[in-house]
Order: sequence, then structure tokens, then C-alpha cells
Amino acid sequence: MQGAMLLGALDPARRAADIAAYRAAGLDPLAMERLPRITRAQSMDILSSQSNLAGYKAVVDAAASYGRAFPMMMTAAGTVSPAKLFVMGVGVAGLQAIATGRRLGAQVSATDVRSATREQIMSLGAKPVFVENVAGIEGEGQGGYAGEMTAEYQAAQAELVSSHIAKQDIVITTALIPGRPAPRLISDAQLATMRAGSVIVDLAAEAGGNVEGCVAGENVVRHGVTIIGAVQLSRTLAADASALFARNLYNFLAAFWDKDAAAPILPADDEIVTAIRPS
Ligand code: NAI
Repeated sequence: MQGAMLLGALDPARRAADIAAYRAAGLDPLAMERLPRITRAQSMDILSSQSNLAGYKAVVDAAASYGRAFPMMMTAAGTVSPAKLFVMGVGVAGLQAIATGRRLGAQVSATDVRSATREQIMSLGAKPVFVENVAGIEGEGQGGYAGEMTAEYQAAQAELVSSHIAKQDIVITTALIPGRPAPRLISDAQLATMRAGSVIVDLAAEAGGNVEGCVAGENVVRHGVTIIGAVQLSRTLAADASALFARNLYNFLAAFWDKDAAAPILPADDEIVTAIRPS
């Protein structure tokens, strides 16, 4: 065990004592969720592989708890209107949620603070809904991450959401800010304007939730709207989650593999290594 690497989502910010204990036991703990968002690290990225599955499952879970159909159906007995689905936060999970909603036949719209996502939303056949009067984050944002927005932006976003959300049947929220509580995107008052029977899946539940009243790991009904406080949804797709996670770790080890040593060698000054080795 001496000198062995310990790879995983180790959460060093909250588990500093565990990290110290691993080191005391002679292990080299590596927090894989801290990989930088650079091209070289893409195939190793455990957050992306799991978020992608979570985005898909969020829509499937929403469809299961929604008491109506997603696609438009024109039948002899009458027409079923398509569900209106709104995705808030268009990162990895949000993009997959858009794609899944479209496949199920919903009318999909989506929003983000990063301007680069507008084109991505349109390329998936969904409608972008953006704050127009206050500048958001240019392009991809630093390292693909969003930051806390100004009070002015938050007010403009709240107004935009208020006018849009009352017409939605399904909302999937995914907005996260690294190292900070999740931004609050839907207030209780906005929730009250939605039609009873609507469903919200909050993928940011564990980080405090994007939706007021969301409880991580529980389904809460407020004003007739079901709020699903989703926690690590990829776990419910265990076979795929494990296969992708294992492939991420394999890609990491392969990238640093040293033939002569017959072991991975991690250069201390490598951008990937410095990011994942807790200080
Ligand atoms: P994330 O999980 O940190 O956040 C989810 C989304 O919420 C982001 O798109 C973010 O902009 C958005 N958001 C934050 N605050 C918001 C607010 N107040 N209102 C609306 N939306 C808000 O992001 P994720 O999914 O990890 O990826 C973000 C970007 O990074 C993507 O463009 C992705 O392609 C890129 N990426 C690149 C990787 C690589 O090159 N190795 C690996 C992972 C992601």
C-alpha cells in the first residue's frame, strides 16, 4: 500500500481529515473531481461522464412523475399538447437534458449565464432564453465555469424567469458555481405561478439547490408543483456510470503510464497533477 495512489471523488474541501489520514497511511490521494477543464483532461473527467448521465436521468424521472405525455399526439380522441420543458444551466448535464427532452417530444427552451451556450442550445433544436439587457459571461467563461453574477444581472434574470416559468410544465435546473452554494434561480413566488402538476428536477440539490424549498434526496410538493431534489442521479444508471467512471480512471493512468517503471509517474508540476493533488 505504501506509495499507492488513491483515485476518486475525494472532496478534499470537506474531508480534510480523511486526506491527512490517507497521507499518514502512505497513500497519494488524488481528487479526480478537480481535474482542470482542458482538452487533455476531457477523457478523464469524472464530473462530465457522471453529469451527462444525470442530465438524461433527470428528464426521464421528470417524465415519470409528470401526469401527462411529453410529445404532441393528434388522435381521433383529441390532441395532446406537447410538454414545455425549460433547462436552466447548460453545462454537460443541461445539454444532455435538452437532447433527452427533445427526443421525448417536449418543446424545449434553455438558459445559461455563459454566452457560448446560446449556439449550443440552438444546435440541439431548443430555444435560447437569455438576459439581453445586462452582460452575462462572455464565451465559455473561465475554464468553462460560471461565477457569481452581479445583483443587476440577478434581478434581470429573475424578471426573465418570472415571465417564462409560468408557461412551463417541466423545469430541469443544473446551475452550479464551483466552491459556492448553487445560485437560487426559482423563488417560491415564481413556483406558485406554475401550473399544478408541473415537475422540477433540481440537479443542484446537494449544493443547496437552485429552487427555493428544494430538499436534497426528497420529493417535495409546493403549490402543486413537485420538486425532485436529485442527488447523484448517475448512481441510478449504475452499469453505465461505473463503465464511464472506470474508463475515465483508465485514461488518466494511461496518460501518465511509464513503460520502464511499469507504473504511472505523475510529474509534480503537471497542470493536471497540481489540480487534483490536494495541497
Ligand atoms: P457546472 O456543473 O459547473 O455548471 C452547470 C451550468 O450552470 C454551467 O453551464 C454554468 O454556466 C451554469 N450556471 C451557473 N450559474 C448560473 C446561473 N446563475 N444561471 C444560469 N446558469 C448558470 O458546468 P459543467 O457542466 O461542468 O460544464 C461547464 C462547461 O465546461 C461546459 O461548456 C463544458 O463543455 C465545459 N467542460 C469542459 C471539460 C474539458 O474540456 N475537460 C470538462 C467538463 C466541462
